[in-house]
Amino acid sequence: MKLLITGGAGFIGSHVVRLFVEKYPHYQVFNLDKLTYAGNLQNLRDIEARANYSFLRGDITDAAFVEAIFSEHRFDAVVHLAAESHVDRSIAEPLAFVETNVLGTVNLLNTAKKHWQGLLEGKLFYHVSTDEVYGSLGEEGLFTEETRYDPRSPYSASKAASDHFVRAWHHTYGLPVKLSNCSNNYGPNHFPEKLIPLAIHNIREGRPVPVYGKGENVRDWLYVLDHARAIDVIFHQGKVGETYNVGGVNEWRNLDLIELLCEVMDEKLGRDKGESRKLITFVKDRAGHDLRYAIDSGKLMKELGWKPSVTFEEGLRKTVDWYLANEQWLKEVTSGHYRDYYTQQYEHR
Ligand code: NAD
Ligand code: DAU
Repeated sequence: MKLLITGGAGFIGSHVVRLFVEKYPHYQVFNLDKLTYAGNLQNLRDIEARANYSFLRGDITDAAFVEAIFSEHRFDAVVHLAAESHVDRSIAEPLAFVETNVLGTVNLLNTAKKHWQGLLEGKLFYHVSTDEVYGSLGEEGLFTEETRYDPRSPYSASKAASDHFVRAWHHTYGLPVKLSNCSNNYGPNHFPEKLIPLAIHNIREGRPVPVYGKGENVRDWLYVLDHARAIDVIFHQGKVGETYNVGGVNEWRNLDLIELLCEVMDEKLGRDKGESRKLITFVKDRAGHDLRYAIDSGKLMKELGWKPSVTFEEGLRKTVDWYLANEQWLKEVTSGHYRDYYTQQYEHR
């Protein structure tokens, strides 16, 4: 098996690469990543010397580059995670999301189709997507695989478009595809532009923790290693042409989550109880902020036997421990451009 994983230097991608490299030593795993601000080879330092792992630096929108690596390595399967992934950035700079998430995906689909023509047996294009394509829920209900698409941010619109293209390549050209739509991930190596790592970083530094609006929005959180395990199960046992929803059965209101995180941080940092809570600062809401996401993972659980392996309490503690033990990682990713982004995003809220 020659497996191309795109976006493998990012948050989820690095956990997926590690899982496949370690669990399947007979697979050749190729990690294609552009190394944008979100890509970091430090995430893979522990496995970079493995004989069954190679890194290919490049851009999924670069047709000549993608063609060249398919010709050279003759991949059997693709697990596609490369994307622009942050909603706030998509509000500020939507075009980059169209380029990478839509054009980049179509470019990969086209190249896979060309190279696999007449040889489709055993080939697979696995597209990793998000629950945000389904839009926003009210107080009740869950997203199922049948929920109508209703993306509402430039990020989710670009991911929805990419999902449609993947299905179109299946229906029109017979490309063997699988898709999964997952809820919010958290865990080690999460870039500190996203809520949980940003809050951990700011609490540690004693800086304000920005909560959008009244903190009433709800997300369904899943530990990143459980998402990687779901991708493994779907990749190997899922049905071709099908979609699987992946979620944590773990809904949290943002404010409740941040309050819990503050308690854990007080304990880990030896601060007085209630100390970190004082840092919570309500700021201007995100434009078009989706109220609630919640996933029904019943299909994946019943058909493929997957379930989350850690509780939120355990996962959050493991995550905090990882950030406190990896200060250098955090220092490196929050230097330089991160400061410009932070000023732009939070200074005038
Ligand atoms: P991330 O932003 O941490 O990583 C994205 C990776 O893609 C980075 O390594 C980056 O360098 C790479 N990349 C970006 N543009 C590229 C390009 N043009 N060519 C090649 N590489 C490029 O993202 P993440 O949070 O790990 O998300 C990975 C995937 O999972 C995305 O497709 C995202 O939509 C999806 N997803 C994320 C979550 C979540 O909670 N983070 C939940 C569900 C689905
Ligand atoms: O649902 C899956 C999606 O989850 C993924 O597809 C995205 O790639 C991923 O970034 C994530 O999107 P969210 O917008 O839900 O994640 P984020 O961490 O940016 O925000 C989580 C919630 O916290 C959301 O309601 C906005 C709020 N928030 C976020 C930030 C960064 C704040 O209140 N303050 C903040 O500073």
